[in-house]
Amino acid sequence: MTDPARLTDPALHADGDPHAVWHWMRGHSPVHRHEATDLPAFWSLTRYEDVRAAYRDPKVFSSARGVLLRPSKLGEDPGAGMTLALTDPPRHKDLRAVVAGRFTTRAVRGLEEYMRTAVRTILAEAIERERFDFVHDVVGRLSMYTIGHIMGVPDEDHEQLYQWTNEAFEAGVSLAAHQELMRYFIDLMYARMADPADDVVSLLAGDTVQGELLPEEEILLNCENLVGATENGRLALAGGIEAFLEHPGEWERLRADRDLLAPAIEEILRWTSSAVHSMRSVTEPVVIGGQRIEAGDWVVLWVPSANRDEEVFPEAGRFDIGRAPNRHLALGGGEHFCLGSVLARAQARLLLTELLDTPHRIEQDGPAARVRSIAVSGPETLPVRLASV
Ligand code: HEM
Repeated sequence: MTDPARLTDPALHADGDPHAVWHWMRGHSPVHRHEATDLPAFWSLTRYEDVRAAYRDPKVFSSARGVLLRPSKLGEDPGAGMTLALTDPPRHKDLRAVVAGRFTTRAVRGLEEYMRTAVRTILAEAIERERFDFVHDVVGRLSMYTIGHIMGVPDEDHEQLYQWTNEAFEAGVSLAAHQELMRYFIDLMYARMADPADDVVSLLAGDTVQGELLPEEEILLNCENLVGATENGRLALAGGIEAFLEHPGEWERLRADRDLLAPAIEEILRWTSSAVHSMRSVTEPVVIGGQRIEAGDWVVLWVPSANRDEEVFPEAGRFDIGRAPNRHLALGGGEHFCLGSVLARAQARLLLTELLDTPHRIEQDGPAARVRSIAVSGPETLPVRLASV
């Protein structure tokens, strides 16, 4: 039941109870060594303080060789040393500065009208059908349209981008869809090189990092990184709705007191912890919890475990929208703290506000299927129907 080896099985995360495993590990083996399988050998960190400390020390815990567990036979991550997520300081700081201005509180405020209209249009279309899939029909579209808008993808191409991304990332391995997606960004990159516009692709194509323009491959990998990263937004939003469906009392509590919106969003982030792990490679020997970890070793930070650590979160297994304080690590920490955090929170606020304002109540309309992955978690599908309040 609680064997730590099970953590690398996607089936545990899709159909089982990984929290039982993490709970056992926090109590019995918080710094746990996993021997090599088809994955490389690695260490698991499951306690809040250890995960937080690793996030905040990029010198010892490097991102440049990869941040997700992957089978050894696949070799190094293609983005290693090149994408935002997979670079270390000082290069990382410089690269992040190229795009960071588009994700600040101010920039997201400027996107608010666009996002509100998108939420309303998408919800209205879904509501017309009465029965719909909350993941595919609502939050997936919302996440993708928004990032498309920021990147500079024209509105009329958003739906196509969404279809390709679904096939390329969600179904796992549709090579054709992935190629279509990359071809699209190649064209967009050349178009913006020739004629820059006010968007993120133009910034990646035109700005310098450490004194040099980014090579084309790095521009494209960073586009892919940004589009792919929104999967977390989709999963967290869908997971939040699922949490409310499972805890209707909390929805009623929110309906009665809109001041709870901000803490509710933080609790959704903690509860769903849709980014399941971040990986780091250790650059010098380090001792954690009495275990010596050698330079070159992989360390895996299990985020949902840190976010249910009883030492930090009273009644950690309870979904409590009024939880305060709530210093969760769902968006990572330190240098690589989620670039999309303001955007993700704004989307959640807009969507929940619209749902609270509708004269309908969402009810589940069949079992949800969960994503089969050890990297991200949440509903793959969430069939719902609308009932009058
Ligand atoms: C609620 C939804 C989200 C969650 C739970 C989430 C979670 C995370 C986490 C845990 C990290 C740290 C990864 C690491 O340190 O290895 C991260 C980084 C990142 N996130 Fe998010 N994310 C969300 C939404 C978004 C959105 C909407 C975007 C849109 C662009 C985004 C873009 C990124 C990027 C680019 C990074 C890498 C930043 C860097 O390395 O400097 N995320 N996210």
